Amino acid sequence: MGMIGGGQGAFIGAVHRMAAGIDGHIELCCGALNSDPDRAKESGKLLSLPEDRIYTNYQEMIVSESKLPKEKRMDFVSIVTPNFAHFEPAIMALDHGFHVVLEKPMTLTLEQAQLIQKKVEETGLTLCVAYTYSAYPMVKQARYLVNENQLGAIRKVMVEYPQGWLSNMIETGLTLAAWRTDPSKSGKSGCMGDIGTHAAHLAEYISGLKISKICADLHTFVSGRRLEDDGNILLRFDNGATGVLSASQVAAGEENALKIRIYGEKAGLEWNQQDANTLIFKPLDAPMQIFRAGQAYLSPLAKHNIRLPAGHPEGYIEAFANIYQNFATSILAHRAGTAVSAEIMDFPTVSDGIRGMQFLETVIASGQSEQKWTDLPDQ
Ligand SMILES: NC(=O)c1ccc[n+]([C@@H]2O[C@H](COP(=O)([O-])OP(=O)(O)OC[C@H]3O[C@@H](n4cnc5c(N)ncnc54)[C@H](O)[C@@H]3O)[C@@H](O)[C@H]2O)c1
Repeated sequence: MGMIGGGQGAFIGAVHRMAAGIDGHIELCCGALNSDPDRAKESGKLLSLPEDRIYTNYQEMIVSESKLPKEKRMDFVSIVTPNFAHFEPAIMALDHGFHVVLEKPMTLTLEQAQLIQKKVEETGLTLCVAYTYSAYPMVKQARYLVNENQLGAIRKVMVEYPQGWLSNMIETGLTLAAWRTDPSKSGKSGCMGDIGTHAAHLAEYISGLKISKICADLHTFVSGRRLEDDGNILLRFDNGATGVLSASQVAAGEENALKIRIYGEKAGLEWNQQDANTLIFKPLDAPMQIFRAGQAYLSPLAKHNIRLPAGHPEGYIEAFANIYQNFATSILAHRAGTAVSAEIMDFPTVSDGIRGMQFLETVIASGQSEQKWTDLPDQ
């Protein structure tokens, strides 16, 4: 693995490195870890990268790596830069024959995302988008229960992602808050691009439905902030189900309280990221059931994505690790010409990234319109 971004002081790059390393199949071999050349060098040294593979910009890294012998060069690149620095490195990496792991939201615009999709199709390479929450084992179990028709036809989806860390104007002193609230670096949305997109992905992933219409009420609470920091969205799904998606970065006191409830004709379910190893199943005519990660009774899909016996907590880093493991295994199998199981292929790809950008563009359009209800395209 090579990495773009994620050097000293960055948030998610370190999580990616820990996650990629957990199963012992992926090794960081090179990086262009910071936009500042000196900090990029310093960051590479801190990670003990070989001097000749610490690059001061991603262009140099992609070109130099592509000239190395096949067995030495990176197999794929992980792009963990702010949103505005996703598109160019992703296109360049694909052009030079490298698979890609790309952070969400995939790009600044839907148009850029579609160009990446076209490039993925042309090259036949794999591009994975880091929709982390869909990789938790109990989320996989929830998807399995819906697929097995244990809930019956889905009627309602309620998903919420409240955070409180942007309750004040902290962007002047904190880099990762500064770019997130700058339209030229984050994209047209703030809170929805940062966390609402995760909630939408989770709703579609577990329910197996597609959001077809959106009615969005977006708001900026912190005076002087340039992008929305709060929003509530009414949803309609392609089977007629209704839904509510609420996301906020000014919900004072909240941490990462992502929670989803899905209700069908026969039963409901509930999953909460802050108690990630528990899934509550609520049948209409029977007592509630609590599914726990690591137990033998879970579906093959959930079991495939867990490493420890029940009661030993796995969390956020392991969810990322599931994405890496499935992504890397699928590439190796493709290379060896061997078959890959459905469990392995169950990781977010370029189509999830496109879906995320369709969601965001529709949210913004609806948020700005007086008519409010706005159709979401089906890719
Ligand atoms: N999947 C998730 O759960 C999750 C969580 C957090 C962040 N993210 C996403 O990850 C991305 C990064 O977020 P973050 O919080 O780590 O940001 P950050 O500001 O902490 O780190 C970004 C790093 O990228 C570097 N960078 C910027 N441009 C570069 C370039 N051209 N070349 C090399 N390095 C460059 C910066 O120097 C910085 O070190 C964003 O797209 C964000 O939406 C996803």
